[in-house]
Amino acid sequence: MTVIIRTVEELRAVVRGWKAEGHVVGVVPTMGALHDGHLSLARRAKAECGRVITTIFVNPRQFNNPDDLKKYPRTEDADAALLRWVGVEVVFCPAPEEVYPEGFVTTVSVGGVSQPLEGALRPGHFDGVATVVAKLFGMTQADRAYFGQKDWQQLQVVQRLVADLDMAVTVVGCETVRDPDGLAMSSRNVRLTAAGRQKAPALYAAMLAAARDFRSGVPQDQVADRAAQAVLAEGFESVEYIEFRDAATLGPVTDASRPVRMLAAAWLDGVRLIDNIAV
Ligand code: PAJ
Repeated sequence: MTVIIRTVEELRAVVRGWKAEGHVVGVVPTMGALHDGHLSLARRAKAECGRVITTIFVNPRQFNNPDDLKKYPRTEDADAALLRWVGVEVVFCPAPEEVYPEGFVTTVSVGGVSQPLEGALRPGHFDGVATVVAKLFGMTQADRAYFGQKDWQQLQVVQRLVADLDMAVTVVGCETVRDPDGLAMSSRNVRLTAAGRQKAPALYAAMLAAARDFRSGVPQDQVADRAAQAVLAEGFESVEYIEFRDAATLGPVTDASRPVRMLAAAWLDGVRLIDNIAV
């Protein structure tokens, strides 16, 4: 049975019961408008945890653009139906006042890994993410938390947060789920025109080609430039970044023995798409 809970008090009571019974509790934080990418996290959580909570909360603090927040799709009934299908025990949908009651003044800010790329382009975004994730961990008391590699930098920020604040939760990073043509699933994809949707897989294709060139020893700046040109030639309006980075710190790649990640953000049809792959 799947139940919808809206208050922290009620959630706490349920989780207390589960813990008393010895269950491992998993949480899948989301902002709703669920697709197969989100559901893959919930399925993985179900496979690894005795009880699973999916949270649906469109977190105002992580939107640097108020219009983006207003336009964010809200499809709670459809989301709940999908989660029922997956079999999660609790869908936690708090109101903004439940998460940020009057008097709330705390911000959690993760240094280093939050600074480049998305952090530089979306000021305050990762403070909003770190603050809400810390709160969701506190509210759910989860043992395991599931995040997508789709948002690679976010995953690194959360790993750092948990390590730095000694949070008793294991963070699990799950593979990016893609459409058959390679486009990473995202709630933004529905905003692409039919023509844009056809062009969109070019980003992933260019990244795969670039990763191959990188591995065969072509200098990284040259490879990244070529990938950006390829994406623009396919009809993307602009490329914000296509870069190779240290996979964990997101600093520059200086040490070839450490894992490398290629990350990209580009605009197509007025939609900002992000993607990343292992190199
Ligand atoms: P949201 O964008 O709803 O994503 C929720 C989770 O689903 C994130 O961990 C994200 O990486 C994962 N996800 C999205 N698309 C995916 C895909 N194609 N394959 C695999 N996983 C995918 O990310 C957020 O919400 C918020 O920042 C949140 C962590 C909930 C904090 O507010």
